[in-house]
Amino acid sequence: MKGILLAGGAGSRLYPLTLVASKQLQPVYDKPMVYYPLTTLIEGGVREICLISTPHDLPRFRQLLGDGSQWGLHIDYREQAKPEGIAQAFRIAASFIGSDPVSLILGDNIFYGGDVFTRAFSDFQGGATIFGYHVQDPERYGVVEFDADGRALSIEEKPKAPRSNYAVPGLYLYDNEIVGIARDLKPSPRGELEITDVNVEYLRRGQLRVHRLARGFAWLDAGTSTSLHEASAYVQTIEKRQGIKVGCPEEAAFHRGFLSLTELKQQVDRLPRCEYRTYLESVVVEAERSGH
Ligand code: TTP
Repeated sequence: MKGILLAGGAGSRLYPLTLVASKQLQPVYDKPMVYYPLTTLIEGGVREICLISTPHDLPRFRQLLGDGSQWGLHIDYREQAKPEGIAQAFRIAASFIGSDPVSLILGDNIFYGGDVFTRAFSDFQGGATIFGYHVQDPERYGVVEFDADGRALSIEEKPKAPRSNYAVPGLYLYDNEIVGIARDLKPSPRGELEITDVNVEYLRRGQLRVHRLARGFAWLDAGTSTSLHEASAYVQTIEKRQGIKVGCPEEAAFHRGFLSLTELKQQVDRLPRCEYRTYLESVVVEAERSGH
């Protein structure tokens, strides 16, 4: 399974923060926002990643993430000239996808808790897998309606009268049919190629699986200054209480076997003295203690 990390967009709701650095480069507590969705892909076992951003911001992402080899990844970069919809990513990345299945994660979505995604990646056999998350304000998102047996009945983009409280978060898994589906999409009235239209097409074909995310699971949105601050506070609370880091690509790559313990140690040696390094040193010590 390949992975697309979509990190373009205008970020207008974060003005003036986004005048010089895009939304996904902003700090969420102790790391850049894009580290969190990147780590989610790594935890899902994805090694080949295509990062899509604006022509203006792409050089910054290259500077931050490089070719990904430091985490045992291969990262490609593509430009989205204008923010013409999330589903446009599959057109931009068509040659990257080739004949493989592909996942897409939004660069401003932060997930924490449990192994539901990791299982969804490993169980994926075809069609489409998306998720449903109970929220207070479903009208801001794609909304999924379920029947009594928990099967998806309908999906609507930003409905005025939502049929449920279940919003679709920004992580989607598709088989290779996505390439043709995205090619044939027509722009919506707001002029975007809609990811909801992709999901509706899989639903029409009887090939859409929607996993409901449990209550304890966190899906954080960091698109406004208030929610960005709240996301930082949430991450800090978890990290302080548990003595772990959320969204740490080095650790995730090590746990997935993308980096050996020796390679992890080499990575740590290159880091400046900082809390991030101290944390990774403790990961190394813990791995050695458990006889890794
Ligand atoms: P949004 O939050 O809908 O838009 P935005 O990031 O441009 O922010 P604002 O509304 O404040 O102007 O986008 C959700 C995510 O998808 C975000 O990470 C940006 C990304 N995105 C793209 O990369 N390209 C696109 O064409 C669209 C529509 C979104």
